[in-house]
Amino acid sequence: MSDLHNRKVYYPNEEFSKNARIGSMEEYKKLQDEATNDYEGFWSRHAKDKIDWIEPFTNTLDESNFPFVKWFEGGKLNVSAQCIDRHLDTRGDKTAILFEGDRGDVQRISYKELHVRVNKFANLLKEDFGVKKGDRVVIYMPMIPEAAFAMLACARIGAIHSIVFGGFSSEALKDRIEDAKAKVVITADGAYRKEKPYLLKPVVDAAITRTSPVEKVLVVERNNEKVDWVDGRDFSYHKLVENKSDECEPEVMDSEDPLFLLYTSGSTGKPKGVQHNQAGYILWAQMTMEWVFDVKEQDVFWCTADVGWITGHTYIVYGPLAMGATTVMFEGVITHPDAGRPWKMVQDHKINQFYTAPTAIRVLHKMGADEPLKYDMSTLKVLGTVGEPIDPPAWKWYYEKVGSSKCAIVDTYWQTETGGHVISPLPGATPIKPACATLPVPGIMAEIIDEEGNTPELGEKGLLCITRPWPSMIRGVWGDPDRFKKAYFGDVKKNGKPVYFTGDGAIYDKDGYITVTGRTDDVINVSGHRMGTAEVEAAILKHDNVAEVAVVGKPHDLKGEGIFAYVVLKCEEVCKEAQEINTIIKSEIGNIALCDDIVFCPGLPKTRSGKIMRRILRSLAKGEEITQDISTLEDPSVVACIEEKVKN
Ligand code: WTA
Repeated sequence: MSDLHNRKVYYPNEEFSKNARIGSMEEYKKLQDEATNDYEGFWSRHAKDKIDWIEPFTNTLDESNFPFVKWFEGGKLNVSAQCIDRHLDTRGDKTAILFEGDRGDVQRISYKELHVRVNKFANLLKEDFGVKKGDRVVIYMPMIPEAAFAMLACARIGAIHSIVFGGFSSEALKDRIEDAKAKVVITADGAYRKEKPYLLKPVVDAAITRTSPVEKVLVVERNNEKVDWVDGRDFSYHKLVENKSDECEPEVMDSEDPLFLLYTSGSTGKPKGVQHNQAGYILWAQMTMEWVFDVKEQDVFWCTADVGWITGHTYIVYGPLAMGATTVMFEGVITHPDAGRPWKMVQDHKINQFYTAPTAIRVLHKMGADEPLKYDMSTLKVLGTVGEPIDPPAWKWYYEKVGSSKCAIVDTYWQTETGGHVISPLPGATPIKPACATLPVPGIMAEIIDEEGNTPELGEKGLLCITRPWPSMIRGVWGDPDRFKKAYFGDVKKNGKPVYFTGDGAIYDKDGYITVTGRTDDVINVSGHRMGTAEVEAAILKHDNVAEVAVVGKPHDLKGEGIFAYVVLKCEEVCKEAQEINTIIKSEIGNIALCDDIVFCPGLPKTRSGKIMRRILRSLAKGEEITQDISTLEDPSVVACIEEKVKN
């Protein structure tokens, strides 16, 4: 990090800045000063301006029960109306969702058509399944437009959706269904990947046990493969939706009614259901679309995430539709049929903003460094990254080859819990530096501090915190208010008061720019997916012959981090355990959590009080020399022994 202060600076493209919503650092500072000086006034102004209120709010922010805060109390709205109905007069025929299937099939769904499809879907949920305001609906879907219709249909009738990423196993799905007590699951028979059909419905079948809260399963037919059917429980979407009315009055929702849950990994225990509510979430989703991507009326915006992650929620569905943009949804794999696929899509659909993860950039770079040159990508204006720190070589290739050295790269830092971007360059204003998230987005009071709230010395790593509640902040962990408090507001205080700690470390450079260095807790980031080491360990412990296990992250060229497991067996037979361990992980969590390395060792390095020294294990996984004092360990000799095993 010694060259942190001397990174090359890239200034915004002048032509771009002229037309940008925030076109200079002066404008940026003016907004940030306004927020600092009159926090509630700032947010109240934007909330009035951006949201189509059914009834106006009467109180901007109530912090009296911090960290349980309330934004825009008294306000009534409907998020699906914010995303659809209010655009019908001005842009009814504009494409809302531009879908490209795995096999290249394209659908353009206008705002008018979206209105019809969402209303019919909403009526189906209400009339045939009895879904009411406040009910939880689990969505386990591939990347097809019906996934977005399902989300918006829930929002329309006030049901709380909880999307589970299609790569999770039936066990993981079961846990999430049960924790949320969902009575309905919306799924598909399957979808296509690399031109071949695959199935999702059997995973749902296995997740619904006899004691499951699920009463009904709605199946969207995507590939018409044969799947099992439970009469009275499973229903065909296409059959039921056909005769539904295309008018469904949007439910009047309070600002602080829940909108959705999204389960994410923490450093301890099982995944937690992050809860987002209506007004604050949709406000920030829309504002960051406008500020950070600077999407204009004629633009086509593509975020390559999956709707199963927060990035897909905020920047494929809610943010783009709330602002009336055209959002691209892609079912396939970006490297199929070759690493030119995304660039061909940019050319074919004249895409203006492209948003993806560093892991995808590294793969596309490695598989086809010159592929971007084969396509006309002159429509691109803004490139974005999200999910993990991007490394300078990947950044440089993205900037030069994908963006032809003329597009700003917005390195957006945020989390499931923040709902939308919190630290990011603004493309028309912020001079950018490679691999740097730069500055807080206006309105967000993000700071790097230590546990007592002091700013660390220049160049020293600190804790990345947000010192005031913001509208799209997590409102709770579903069913567990104590965990919400402990997980996010327990570690860091400023002026004696607890503040939100992200779990990430970060460093200021001499210009006050924030570089995020990664998690400080036991959460690892595999291909931009958050994974709690505790979850992987719990899965591995299900193997009969495993006595103890410790999982750490290890730097990985393409994935960012790989999963490295140290396993102590009950009896020493290591012929088939490694394979069996990965089979268990696959069924407990899913392929995304498979271990890259499994090392069998005689014991784990522990302190005399029994705490596993993960720092040592992380160093050993990287092949680093152990320099720290290990004499205080319960059994220092295990370190040399593990070192030997790792080398082999
Ligand atoms: C990491 C994804 C560095 C970080 C939106 C955070 C990043 C976690 C960046 C959240 C970035 C996300 N630079 N690290 N630009 N963006 N992260 O909840 O560790 O899936 O805490 O949300 O990803 O992951 P999550």
